[in-house]
Amino acid sequence: MNHPPDTVRAVEWRGSALRLLDQRLLPRHQEFLELDRPAAVAAAIRDMVVRGAPAIGVAAAYAVVLAARRAWQRSPAGWRGEMERDLELLAAARPTAVNLCWALKRMEAVADRAEGDPGGVLLEEARRIHAEDVDANRRMGELGAALIEERCAVLTHCNTGSLATGGFGTALGVIRTAYAAGRIGHVYAGETRPWLQGARLTAWELVQDGIPVTLLADGAAAWLMRQGGIGWVVVGADRIAANGDVANKIGTYSTAVSARHHGVKFMVVAPTSTIDPLTPDGSSIPIEQRPGRELLELGGEPVAAQGAAAWNPSFDVTPASLIDAIVTERGVVLNPATRGVAELIAEG
Ligand code: MRU
Repeated sequence: MNHPPDTVRAVEWRGSALRLLDQRLLPRHQEFLELDRPAAVAAAIRDMVVRGAPAIGVAAAYAVVLAARRAWQRSPAGWRGEMERDLELLAAARPTAVNLCWALKRMEAVADRAEGDPGGVLLEEARRIHAEDVDANRRMGELGAALIEERCAVLTHCNTGSLATGGFGTALGVIRTAYAAGRIGHVYAGETRPWLQGARLTAWELVQDGIPVTLLADGAAAWLMRQGGIGWVVVGADRIAANGDVANKIGTYSTAVSARHHGVKFMVVAPTSTIDPLTPDGSSIPIEQRPGRELLELGGEPVAAQGAAAWNPSFDVTPASLIDAIVTERGVVLNPATRGVAELIAEG
């Protein structure tokens, strides 16, 4: 199949360093950071230079290469123990996106088997994780687009595109594919307070690739659905529990509640690296709390009454019962509340 265009790459290995597009500055500035220390990558993940569950996993994989190289230089005999501290730092960078620990585990397994200088085999594995993510996204694009049977408008939340992944995107990959096939007439994107991933990133990516997009305030989603014409809400995930409950950007849950109320279908698109079979249901998913100033300020300027406190959970959990389809690269689970996601993993 000819895949629709996606021109943006946020995570790249260049020479002997990791190159990250600084997503905090988009869409006004396109600046890249070249990082050669694992601690700098951990800080970049924590501070949202790179964000989106799969992209965080890919960046962490390359950070392990940096960690191993430095550890090997310091101590060819004890490099494996030497890099433990960096691995812990990376694992703690953000708590909800399970792709981070998934990628670290894959890299650690290769490190444990490495003989001699581990740099080469670890770089190969990181590149493999990156390439597999892009392939998974393309496959999910086809599977998810096939679910959109009648031409309609769709609503998405946060940013799930090339910026949030190794490339192409999860929910945005489905939207790209379905748009190219004529199944989507228009894309609506929630602005996604407080980081504005919808306004700054999704809108930017779609404009780059010539897909018409209309932004709305997050609070307008229910009213948009009330107007009619929205066939599907299509979103990504940061962690999917074994029973199909889904953690994703704050605001996803209320959008799912509104979708069910208005008879709009709700699709979650995520690679199997986002599924955490060890988490039985959404109540055990750790939800990242971010600093209150992200709500109280906008672009560094105070916007709230001085003295007000802020509650700033970065994610929420949508129960499986509100989800019509979970799309992974291994296949689609319809009505995940009745058929566990764990079954899909077991089949793979
Ligand atoms: O805080 P962020 O920007 O990392 O949150 C990102 C999301 O919630 C995405 O929807 C999710 O990671 C899926 S990205 C393909």
